[in-house]
Amino acid sequence: MAYQHVSVLRNEAVSMLNCAPGKTIVDCTVGGAGHSAAILENILPDGILVGIDQDVKAIEAAREALAPYSENVYLVHDNFVNLPLVLARIGIDAADGILADLGLSLFQIRTSGRGFSFEGDEPLDMRMNTYNPVTAASIVNESDEKTLETIFREYGEERYARRIAAEIVRRRAETAISRTGDLVDIVMASMPKKATATSRIHPATRVFMALRIAVNQELEVLGEFIDRAVDHLVPGGRLCIISFHSLEDRIVKHRFRDLAEICKCSKDLPVCVCTHEPKIRVIGRKPVRASGEEVEANPMSRSAVMRVAEKLGGQASHREGGA
Ligand SMILES: C[S@@+](CC[C@H](N)C(=O)[O-])C[C@H]1O[C@@H](n2cnc3c(N)ncnc32)[C@H](O)[C@@H]1O
Repeated sequence: MAYQHVSVLRNEAVSMLNCAPGKTIVDCTVGGAGHSAAILENILPDGILVGIDQDVKAIEAAREALAPYSENVYLVHDNFVNLPLVLARIGIDAADGILADLGLSLFQIRTSGRGFSFEGDEPLDMRMNTYNPVTAASIVNESDEKTLETIFREYGEERYARRIAAEIVRRRAETAISRTGDLVDIVMASMPKKATATSRIHPATRVFMALRIAVNQELEVLGEFIDRAVDHLVPGGRLCIISFHSLEDRIVKHRFRDLAEICKCSKDLPVCVCTHEPKIRVIGRKPVRASGEEVEANPMSRSAVMRVAEKLGGQASHREGGA
């Protein structure tokens, strides 16, 4: 199967995961297996790679791409929030490294036919996991106006959220909205002419992103996933997360900060009285970004941000006495 995707921050991820022969690494978003193949090259001959994806087409593509390494690979169709169950079924307690490269693959955007893109005219689906019942069409046709507005405002940061939600409700009273082309028409009709004419991005970009996030509950699962991933790392093991928009990155940044916190006492107390232990340390003062050459070769990498955390073995000290 032809599965299009260009992996971002591939070498950086392999290096940050400290890949070495014999290690067990989990790629939670295996996609077309670009990262997984690079990881395998560094953990063979006796390393293990677990590849997870909630899109069954990605699992099929990864199975084909990783066929030469099949003895060292487990591929699982699941949501990465179920990581503990996935690992338990395989008989792995903790991994040396865990990677999540969030968002969509090029295959999903360009060829899946599931309406992720505002270019072309496809069924309004937007599910990564086509076994899930909720589609973009069901949200657009069945949610009340206020819910639609909230989705567009909170997940898309869409300025014209209220007008677009109102126009959806007006149009669907005449006939169900079932195609991406219908949704693009609605967005264009709802926005002031000046806004559509001067927008730097396609006017429907934010609405499409918001709906996709809602359909796949992308933000809901992320915080929970981070906690579970940290629990299933060996001490010294690394969690690398690549995100592509600020809402995702904010969750990763804040969750890492919470998990790395040394002491939860009020700053007014002279000594630490809490029993809180940090679980991770954050690697690098700044997140990793794509180099100029990578951005030139693959413009989609421009927005990629990779944050890295290392699991602690409980050795970090609490704040003691003094200022
Ligand atoms: C950017 S692509 C990954 C590409 C891959 N790293 C590569 O190099 O080919 C993201 C993949 O993550 C999957 N995905 C996104 N959220 C997921 C989740 N919560 N659980 C499992 N898979 C998820 C998508 O279906 C998609 O295949």
